[in-house]
Amino acid sequence: MLKEVAERLKDNYPYGDPLYAGQMLKPPHPVARLAYEMALQINPNNHALDGGRASSAMEKEAVAALARMVGWETHLGHLCGGGTMANLEALWIAGQLHPGKTILASTQAHYTHQRIAGVLGLPFETVPVDRRGRMDEHALDRRLAAGGVGTVVATIGTTATGAVDPLAAIVELRKRYDFRVHADAAYGGYFLLTDNLEQETRGAFDHLADAASVVIDPHKHGLQPYGCGCVLFKDPSVGRLYRHDSPYTYYTSTDLHLGEIALECSRPGAAAVALWATQRLFPLVRGGDFAQGLASGRAAALALYERLREDRRFVTAAPPELDILVWAPRAVSVTEASNLSRRVFAEAAQRQLHLALVSLPLQLIDVQDMQRDRDAIICLRSVLMKPEHREWADRIWAILDEATTAAGVRR
Ligand SMILES: Cc1ncc(COP(=O)(O)O)c(C=O)c1O
Repeated sequence: MLKEVAERLKDNYPYGDPLYAGQMLKPPHPVARLAYEMALQINPNNHALDGGRASSAMEKEAVAALARMVGWETHLGHLCGGGTMANLEALWIAGQLHPGKTILASTQAHYTHQRIAGVLGLPFETVPVDRRGRMDEHALDRRLAAGGVGTVVATIGTTATGAVDPLAAIVELRKRYDFRVHADAAYGGYFLLTDNLEQETRGAFDHLADAASVVIDPHKHGLQPYGCGCVLFKDPSVGRLYRHDSPYTYYTSTDLHLGEIALECSRPGAAAVALWATQRLFPLVRGGDFAQGLASGRAAALALYERLREDRRFVTAAPPELDILVWAPRAVSVTEASNLSRRVFAEAAQRQLHLALVSLPLQLIDVQDMQRDRDAIICLRSVLMKPEHREWADRIWAILDEATTAAGVRR
């Protein structure tokens, strides 16, 4: 039967391979896998201390380390299923503190925010972005002046292009308007630790501590298996908003049961154990081994960006702020360029280079003299999340070059 499982699992992309450079997929570290597996022998449940004493303690320590990374001395937080659940909790708290008020996020924010606002029954609006895909602070100012805004979601690393919203300016606007800042750093949060960011991007990260809540996903850049997001609140007193009685649990100890401050009930204690072990091996310090891994991916993105920019066959976006790269083949029209992107994607996959596709508003790509016959352009997208991507950049380029020729993109 397990042979059948192995057979079935063959139907996948080679996610762990450096030539997999498509979606946000990064293999969990061996120490995370082993620690997860060890905990699975017990299968603890971090809903309550009744179900997982050791793993709950490890979760509290691992989450505290993430809060310290953000720069907070006090916090309340916990792990959850992923970025969607983590953002849901952050916006649920925001909605309780500003009932009925509007949630704003940029047009490039993850689509989950609009859906979450729908679930919570809160009004939701988008704020336009600049040509780098970052929330336009002047448009935000105007919208705040019109009133009725409860929360602004700053995306610290958009899913499509890794753009970082101008958090310093957003926080500054709090001097003139009363709103809550939530930072969706599900993807980009750990880049706080790297030392090869652009100055403006670094400036945004330096203000992460000024947000009221932050989401960071250990299952994206934090070397964890799926099922590991994290929501953090700066003010621990928001814990009161979670207050509820459980007729079934919370009896074994007067210490905090994580279910008392989370919307989810049952949760895998193994996820906490894996994260704890990984953070012991790779402490969350600026410039440390883990940070250098992230910086390598970013260096790979910058190196490939330079090659794309110098090559007349391609049009590009602004330089990547993190490690996500987008570009498109040059063509007479946006429709033709979009079709060519699809073709290059398929030709690259045939050569074992796995990229992704993304639809972007024309404003984000320097389409130059192409006929603008559509509002959006399908681009190639590469998330260069693995430290090895730096060393593989030449190989990736060589295959892309071949795939581009095979797709019929003219020099
Ligand atoms: C910025 C951002 N927020 C939220 C999410 C949703 O996270 P998840 O897929 O873990 O639910 C993602 C996923 O890519 C993301 O990039």
